[in-house]
Amino acid sequence: MQLKRLSLWLLAAVAIPLSAQRTLTVSVKPGAEINPDMYGVFFEDINFGADGGLYAELVKNRSFEFDYPLMGWTPFGEVSVETEAPAFEKNPHYVRLTEKGTYKRAGLQNEGFVDGMNLVRGKEYRLVFYARRQSERPVRVKVEFITAANNPMTSAKVEVDSPEWQKYTLVMKAGKSDAHARLRLTVETKGVLDIDHVSLFPVDTWNGRENGLRKDLVQALYDLKPGVFRFPGGCIVEGSTLDTRYQWKNSVGPVENRPYNDNRWNYTFRHRLYPDYYQSYGLGFYEYFLLCEDIGAEPLPVLNCGIGCQYQSGELVPLDEMDPYVQDAIDLVEFANGDTTTTWGSLRARMGHPEPFGLKYLGIGNEQWGEEFVQREALFVEALRKHCPDIRIVGSSGPSADGEQFEYLWPEMKRLKVDFVDEHYYKPPEWFYANAGRYDDYDRKGPKVYAGEYASHHKSKENNFEAALSEAAFLTGVERNADVVRLATYAPLLAHVDAWQWRPDMIWFDNSRVLLTPNYYVQQLYSLHKGTHTLRLTENGAAVKGQESLYASAVYDADSARIIVKVANTASHPQEVVLRFDGLKRRQALQPQAEILYMQSDDKNAVNTFKNPSAIVPQRAGAAVEGDRCPLTLAPQSFQVIIIPFVSKP
Ligand code: AHR
Repeated sequence: MQLKRLSLWLLAAVAIPLSAQRTLTVSVKPGAEINPDMYGVFFEDINFGADGGLYAELVKNRSFEFDYPLMGWTPFGEVSVETEAPAFEKNPHYVRLTEKGTYKRAGLQNEGFVDGMNLVRGKEYRLVFYARRQSERPVRVKVEFITAANNPMTSAKVEVDSPEWQKYTLVMKAGKSDAHARLRLTVETKGVLDIDHVSLFPVDTWNGRENGLRKDLVQALYDLKPGVFRFPGGCIVEGSTLDTRYQWKNSVGPVENRPYNDNRWNYTFRHRLYPDYYQSYGLGFYEYFLLCEDIGAEPLPVLNCGIGCQYQSGELVPLDEMDPYVQDAIDLVEFANGDTTTTWGSLRARMGHPEPFGLKYLGIGNEQWGEEFVQREALFVEALRKHCPDIRIVGSSGPSADGEQFEYLWPEMKRLKVDFVDEHYYKPPEWFYANAGRYDDYDRKGPKVYAGEYASHHKSKENNFEAALSEAAFLTGVERNADVVRLATYAPLLAHVDAWQWRPDMIWFDNSRVLLTPNYYVQQLYSLHKGTHTLRLTENGAAVKGQESLYASAVYDADSARIIVKVANTASHPQEVVLRFDGLKRRQALQPQAEILYMQSDDKNAVNTFKNPSAIVPQRAGAAVEGDRCPLTLAPQSFQVIIIPFVSKP
């Protein structure tokens, strides 16, 4: 977390009449236990979040399986696409390059995912391709890194001497830094060459893995300390049609043989078409589980429930043909948790992870609705309870946070006794302010709430301070109701600045840089300071949920013996408050100095940019604690996390 030692408003002496001083009373008696997995991330391959983003592969369409097999490639000379005797059964297309020994050269050049590939001078890159010669004699291939200005920067030569498919690997150093470089392969000697699965990764991926992830992006996730990690979406789970739904079994095993799929974000928004956006499944379920393990998040996979996107095809699997779908869910649990003698557990072990991943959550269906969803969900619940009784099932309340489907689905989910109900809300800041009390009256006996997709959508659709502040204010209500809201994930997570379909998003990036938004920092403040138990915080006996622009909640952290209070002041003027701690025992006292982390801006439209990435970041201040009181001046338009350790009296 980037923190500046500033005190600004929080310590400033401001002329506010004493009568305006407000007292927020915090009872120090611990209440409900807070789910340690509470705040997390929602990941989907949208905005080039996986292919072209988190997944560190630099070659687009490496297997020649897009609808137009040479999309992403510039072929030159005699080039054809073949399928006869392929290297990989599930990715059958490959390219044949014929070099006749004339003036012309035959070869291929790849443009990377979004306007080139990021190569960094002196860094190593691992090139892998599969090839066989069709001609009598060996064929020599020249591999080059080319700058955006078309100058070769690094080259190497490979002799393909096998008449059978063979894997060729070489590590090359980039001669220059260029975020828009290209990869070129040229046949140099007379002959015919078949080539497939042309892949280029930085050697320096997260944890140095070969089929690895972009280090800077994983670092940003790691720094969030997410409790839970939802994957693979989102609408991608549903597919536009059932054929294009996400099928987890296609995303495991050798990467070369994972069949390509459409990516619906290629064509969902007509005003933002990305015809070259597909899913390679290179970042598949195995890589996902590893990532969760690396960053300490609990995986929460979501699977198709037998319905294609209801906004699009709405295709339904007949109820008596649901078995393979239900079996997919049971098998996924086996892949994650089964011992190595089981079919799917042994695949996990062969992929390199004999120990179970300890999966405990599973979502069935994304934004589904209607009786057709409930009927199908029931089949999953019945089978999962029988075969995987430890798995906590997440059902759905549809695409909206209210309305007819929401009202219909909640009681139905209760009837099915799912463990969690997924709620989605992409709403304006005003909605977030108005809904800080949303969960105060929720039924405590039914399924718990999983706020599975939410984000404040300012009319500008920017990740600006207003959006972040309204999320911070709203989350005080989530925290206050942490007994009923047990999981929450902001959505979507990632977006490429030059290739997005949906915004706002929590983390932006380009080929070489990462940009953290004010929304990211709000999530991080909650995640790092979630505490272990709720504390009752009131003003004049009532929860603080927007009265005179103040939103507040408090937690106790048993691990560090600290009280943590969160307060958002959404007014455009400062406010004087006194935090009063009620119920301190005889031997309990508060440390005389509180630590404050806060975000503030006079400009609600302020955003972080690559030029000024720290425009809105948490800053650090302090405040005096006098016995059981902590007086504060809250800056206008600010969110603060006030941390006060307990000290034991002798
Ligand atoms: O987060 C983007 C999309 O919003 C998700 O794919 C979908 O579930 C929701 O409508």
